[in-house]
Amino acid sequence: MSKYDNSFTDELRQRLSIIDVINRRVPLVKKGQNYWGCCPFHNEKTPSFSVNEDKGFYHCFGCGEHGDIISFVMKSENLEFKEAIKELADMAGLKMPEFRQKTQQQIEAEETYVKITEKAAEIYQNLLYGESGRVALDYIKNRGFSDEMIKKYRIGYAPRGNVIASHFSNIKIDKLIATGLVRVGDRGPYDFFRDKLMFPIFNAHGQIVAFSGRSLDGSEPKYINTTDTELFHKRQTIFGFNFARESIHRNNRSIIVEGQIDAIQMQNHGFPETVAPLGTALTEDHIAILCKSNRNIVFCFDGDNAGQKAAIRAATLVLPFLRETSDIKFAFVTGGKDPDEILKTHGESAMRKIIDDATPLIDFLWNVVNKNYLINTPGGRTSAEKYLKDCISKISDKIFQNEIEQEFNQRKFNQWHKWKKTEYKPTIELPDTDIMPINIIKSIVQKYPMISEKYLDFLTSLNISFDDENVPDTDLSLDAAEKFIVSYKLRKYVEKLNLEKQEIISNALKNNIDCKESISEIDNKISDANEKLELLLDINNK
Ligand code: CTP
Ligand code: MN
Repeated sequence: MSKYDNSFTDELRQRLSIIDVINRRVPLVKKGQNYWGCCPFHNEKTPSFSVNEDKGFYHCFGCGEHGDIISFVMKSENLEFKEAIKELADMAGLKMPEFRQKTQQQIEAEETYVKITEKAAEIYQNLLYGESGRVALDYIKNRGFSDEMIKKYRIGYAPRGNVIASHFSNIKIDKLIATGLVRVGDRGPYDFFRDKLMFPIFNAHGQIVAFSGRSLDGSEPKYINTTDTELFHKRQTIFGFNFARESIHRNNRSIIVEGQIDAIQMQNHGFPETVAPLGTALTEDHIAILCKSNRNIVFCFDGDNAGQKAAIRAATLVLPFLRETSDIKFAFVTGGKDPDEILKTHGESAMRKIIDDATPLIDFLWNVVNKNYLINTPGGRTSAEKYLKDCISKISDKIFQNEIEQEFNQRKFNQWHKWKKTEYKPTIELPDTDIMPINIIKSIVQKYPMISEKYLDFLTSLNISFDDENVPDTDLSLDAAEKFIVSYKLRKYVEKLNLEKQEIISNALKNNIDCKESISEIDNKISDANEKLELLLDINNK
């Protein structure tokens, strides 16, 4: 039987984490590499039922039961194979395919497919080192690829003309067309890839299933990929995964970059756990595949606008996979166009700094809403809250979901609604000016003429008559008297304002006034603040 016979069950295993499937019936706790719980197949009080997420197997050390997601659902719910598949398909959101055994013909067709792509890769590899491949070879060497790298990634050259179509002229044309390497036009079969630098695309088992060809003469599109075939589904294939798999496991994380050359350069310069989606669009399938190994991902995007957008998309896609043990981060390339360029111009340490400084998912989402919505308006905050709510709802674990929600609530309270808690509190201590302030001012004016002169403008603006004969004596010292006037002046400014503006000035004053400063300095600052305030009021009225 060919391994492609079971493509749907393979897809289920790829899509679903065995932890999620088993956790629905048996609460699991992570200890070391494995998850543990009490075995559902025999009676026990201490957990001897272990689940390995990476391998997709469970094993009970008590009763010896073991198997994968399918046998778990069959045994624990007493279902037939097909019924179990149906339940798992529902869980994964996949449509049940029609169950038909593969015909001998199909199996043979798939074997031929693999043989053709394998041979094609070999032909392209040889041509890269031949006469026609000179420009391509120069190009790839110039981009920092050594002969070993070229060999390892099986990079080749597809020349002008129809090398593949003519090499396989004895093979049925349908089979050639099925690989995507050959098409048929008015004048017969022709090669799909011409004058391209060829990057084979491997499946997870290291078999070549497709190619990505880069143009060498600057023509657009820069890359063309094999279109989807029976054995190649772009949305489910991650470039470099076959090489990175071991390291993703060992280093307990994966790094996703945007381009395939970036992935290769990263893998060869200290980041063997790096992969890239094919083309720019990351899919849920890509993330599902990586999350099978572990749920620690560093998304590393180019520093441009497209990179920002792609990161937001990635964040949305990754949320359903989030667990309390996940470590999901976002890095943005700065100081160069992409990881390839950083490695070349600044070296591995610069790249490592970018990866190490990556922003955790929660902070990334928080930054996204604060950057993209007008948080200082109620409408903006509402939109932002809706966005966050939508994000949170994507997290499948309810307890974790609740925790994340509280985290955001805390941030909203601390950072958005701070102004609600800020009351007007001037930083300089005010004497209680409400007690007959006018009489006190009159007595100050009478006792300290220099103060009257200094604050003439303010005092006249009060519109009070200083001609009064019956002004009481004041026992305030000169300093205290001046402080009283300045405080009164300050209070008058603030009283004029509505609450919102009071807040503006109280903030402005808070930053400007230090109690230890001399009174006249404080006064200057009040005047200064007042001027700014008038300006603000002016602008607001316009
Ligand atoms: N891509 C694609 N089709 C295109 C352009 C890009 O499939 N027309 C994919 C390729 O996988 C490419 C990735 O998107 O690696 C990122 O594109 P881009 O940043 O434009 O290219 P680079 O990776 O920088 O390509 P290179 O370094 O070869 O110039
Ligand atoms: Mn590049």
